Amino acid sequence: MEEIFDIKNAFEIVRADELTGDLILRVTDGKTALLKKTGDMVVRVNGGKTEIDVYAGSSDKRDRWRRTGGKIAAWMKSKCPASAALDCGPADRRELLVGLLLGAYEFSKYKKAPKEAPGTLSVVMPKADFDEVKTICDAQNMAREWAHEPASVINPQTLSDRAEAFAAKYGLKCTVLDDVQLRDMGAGAIVAVGQGSKTPSRMIILEYPGTNPGNPVVLVGKALTFDSGGLSLKSTTGMPDMKYDKCGAMAVFGILRAAAQLKLAVPVTGVICAAENMPSDKAYRPDDILRSLSGKTIEVKSTDAEGRLVLADGLTWAQRNLDPRCIIDYATLTGACVVALGHVFAGLMCTDDDLFGGLYASGEKTQERVWRMPLDEEFAEKLKSPDADLKNSGGREGGTCTAGMFLKAFIDDGMPWAHMDIAGTAYNMDGSDYFVPGATGFGVRLTVDWLKGLKEVK
Ligand code: BES
Ligand code: MN
Ligand code: ZN
Repeated sequence: MEEIFDIKNAFEIVRADELTGDLILRVTDGKTALLKKTGDMVVRVNGGKTEIDVYAGSSDKRDRWRRTGGKIAAWMKSKCPASAALDCGPADRRELLVGLLLGAYEFSKYKKAPKEAPGTLSVVMPKADFDEVKTICDAQNMAREWAHEPASVINPQTLSDRAEAFAAKYGLKCTVLDDVQLRDMGAGAIVAVGQGSKTPSRMIILEYPGTNPGNPVVLVGKALTFDSGGLSLKSTTGMPDMKYDKCGAMAVFGILRAAAQLKLAVPVTGVICAAENMPSDKAYRPDDILRSLSGKTIEVKSTDAEGRLVLADGLTWAQRNLDPRCIIDYATLTGACVVALGHVFAGLMCTDDDLFGGLYASGEKTQERVWRMPLDEEFAEKLKSPDADLKNSGGREGGTCTAGMFLKAFIDDGMPWAHMDIAGTAYNMDGSDYFVPGATGFGVRLTVDWLKGLKEVK
């Protein structure tokens, strides 16, 4: 199983103390007649040596160092030099390296090997920075790799097998609750979502103890290994890419891996809510009334509003069993969030201004940006059901906010909680300067940055 952890990029990136070799790339932010746009290059051949200036863009260009790293990675992939060395010039080296490492990744395990492959890129930078950034980006690329696996490979059962191997490898504690245990404890919402699938639901708990014991930060991840919509079936065009409906949970795996490898102070516990949403004669139906683990009953109005159902039980389980310091959930929850914020921001709903402030700042710093959306009682009106305590769909209007209020119904008063709707940011089929089309691993760098700042444990 080792290959599922050791994700190979399209080319290797190593650290060096000095520039060596016949091919040197130099990052510059000096604009010239030929260096106008981020990633523009000018080549100089001088005897046996080739030197290439790579333009990063001026200081008003947002995210220019990571974008430049991404452009260099794309160039390495297309030109396949035998080797190259990088002079970071004026760049923020850590950010440039992030762009290189995320840009060098592609999901290639099911494709035949290309005829030509790029050699190694050596980057001149301090070892401590290189090692830390590489640890975080490798964890993020693992989250991306796992997200790309189709539902024929990753289902709730194979995901829990992976989680056990993952826990053994990174020194975490792993508990898997299967559908029988979940049903027996009363977690009727997560069980219902998976009951139409031949691979029923699982709740997976992964615990990193931290170097400074205390209440854990709890990260709850939506892992719909496939979301067909269930009996409220998605359309022909709405269903493709729904293997990515597990991206929230994949981010949680990535964050835990980085936390363990960096030996972060604060304990972190992941709660992964895994299910496959399928139509069948066993499937849950519109109008079914579910009894959730909290005791609250939920009338199903759309079986396609399944993410909030699995999360409701995960959030309740976490509060009853883990004594969280705070909770953050990650979920590709609503199409409405993609309409509102595109692929640029995740929607963040939060009960605590300090928690919001910390996450917002880390988002701006890492370019995994979040935009606050309201948690307001007026949205909860839409979730009133005549026959149950609440219903699972509030309709199209304000879809992100009604989903947030649905989750809030399962949060105890006073619990600092943040909900990240990553439906737009978890994957992007257009790609961007440092992401090939597909999963981005959104949430890993943002959260690791925030956790690193949490030294004091309550
Ligand atoms: N997984 C989807 C949300 C989604 C849609 C993510 C598109 C990424 C891209 C979620 O389970 C869903 O189907 N939500 C419904 C909710 C509705 C039925 C209230 C939606 O957004 O349409
Ligand atoms: Mn759905
Ligand atoms: Zn879904």
